[in-house]
Amino acid sequence: MLTAEQNERLTLVGPGTPMGELMRRYWQPIAAYAELSTNPTKAIRLLGEDLVLYKDRSGTLGLLEASCAHRRVHLLYGIPEDNGLRCPYHGWLYDASGQCLEMPAEAPESTFPSRVQLKAYPVAELGGLVFAYLGPAPAPVLPHWGPFVAKGVVRSIGWAVVPCNWLQIMENSLDPVHGEYNHQYFCNYVLERMGILDDRGDLLGERPAQLSAEGESFWRKGATIRHHKKVGFTAFEHGILKHRLYAFEDEETSLGWRIGHPILFPNYEHGGLDHFQIRVPMDDTHTYYLWYRYSPPRDGEQASDDPDDVNVYKVPMPGLDGDMQPVWGLMDNNSGQDNMMWTSQGPIMQRPIEKLGQSDVGIIMFRRMLFEQLAVMEDGGDPMNVFRKLPPDGDHIVVPVEELDPAAANDPVYSRAAAVATQGRKPRIGAGNTQKYDPVLLRHTADAGGTLPPPPPSIEIDMAEAAPG
Ligand code: FES
Ligand SMILES: [Fe+2]
Repeated sequence: MLTAEQNERLTLVGPGTPMGELMRRYWQPIAAYAELSTNPTKAIRLLGEDLVLYKDRSGTLGLLEASCAHRRVHLLYGIPEDNGLRCPYHGWLYDASGQCLEMPAEAPESTFPSRVQLKAYPVAELGGLVFAYLGPAPAPVLPHWGPFVAKGVVRSIGWAVVPCNWLQIMENSLDPVHGEYNHQYFCNYVLERMGILDDRGDLLGERPAQLSAEGESFWRKGATIRHHKKVGFTAFEHGILKHRLYAFEDEETSLGWRIGHPILFPNYEHGGLDHFQIRVPMDDTHTYYLWYRYSPPRDGEQASDDPDDVNVYKVPMPGLDGDMQPVWGLMDNNSGQDNMMWTSQGPIMQRPIEKLGQSDVGIIMFRRMLFEQLAVMEDGGDPMNVFRKLPPDGDHIVVPVEELDPAAANDPVYSRAAAVATQGRKPRIGAGNTQKYDPVLLRHTADAGGTLPPPPPSIEIDMAEAAPG
């Protein structure tokens, strides 16, 4: 439980708020670079500020305040030029520093342009993502996490706008037991409501998760409940490692227990299997959500380090039908289940009236870490994961991850390849995170003759409008 004041300290992200200032110490991802090749401008809401990201005709990226200094037209409609972005209304031209270069309707000798400046922030590309820095100078170096700097891989970036505060999403990452209920027990209920549940799996969680030898997909077979025998958390230099021991495992051999699953301070989960989930606060009640994944190229697939070759896809948010009932077909997968839980907690979760149990110890630890790092910042220091030096050439920041441990390659619980080999399954799209929507995974599965999911159903009522509170 937090007091109302503590809840505000951890959740509000606008300019001048403590958490807003902490978040401004980090390069925050705001777009996939490849999006700008299709649409060279993008409206950005970041930490309570309205901005416009653009790529001009010489390839320079810029991030400007959203409205033209002249008569406040939104620069999403701006025209990219060779050296900046031109307002569509009267043609004022701005460069990436926000400096006005031209005012076509003013006299050629006028010095007025030199005295007009829009707010502008630094932007940079890494691993196919565009990052922005809104904090005090000097900016730190870009975060060279492994997935961002891996070479010769195939990348995909899924995104969504989740209509709730960033912290309830991050707290979910410190809450391993939700997997057992939300992604397994509730998932089976979703399949039951869809009328397609024909196997309830193993409700006691005594055996490892298995699917049928025919390679049936998750939306036909029920999820096997993986019961948590215990959970644990350890702080490490980049955040918190989340440890879980399932009922069918033992402490000595379980990678999930021995190594664990990293949460990178303040807003990343390293989801294993080479992917990140990143939660970027847009404002107090909206979060830009990224599912970032890379994989080695398959036969016939072209690896590319060109950010324009990244596969970008939008992840549908759950919602309601015309009878105000859940659209179940959007919750037969982990991202849909999680998104619905977070949104239904309200725009900003009311922590003063929550009731935490012993299994919530990871959430308490994360809040404590946030308070500690706020204090570090307020004392003039760099909070955790603000990097001032790049790793040595070609290297990345090393983080322990259970599914990337060499031992995981032969373990069917952690390795999809091992599961296919030892259980004779066809490759399949699983229920995990956004596998159902990722174009790269869909292509791999189709190429191997696996079953593809049905297209997502449509919603009539957006959860952004239907959310209580
Ligand atoms: S409003 Fe932008 S140039 Fe006039
Ligand atoms: Fe989840």
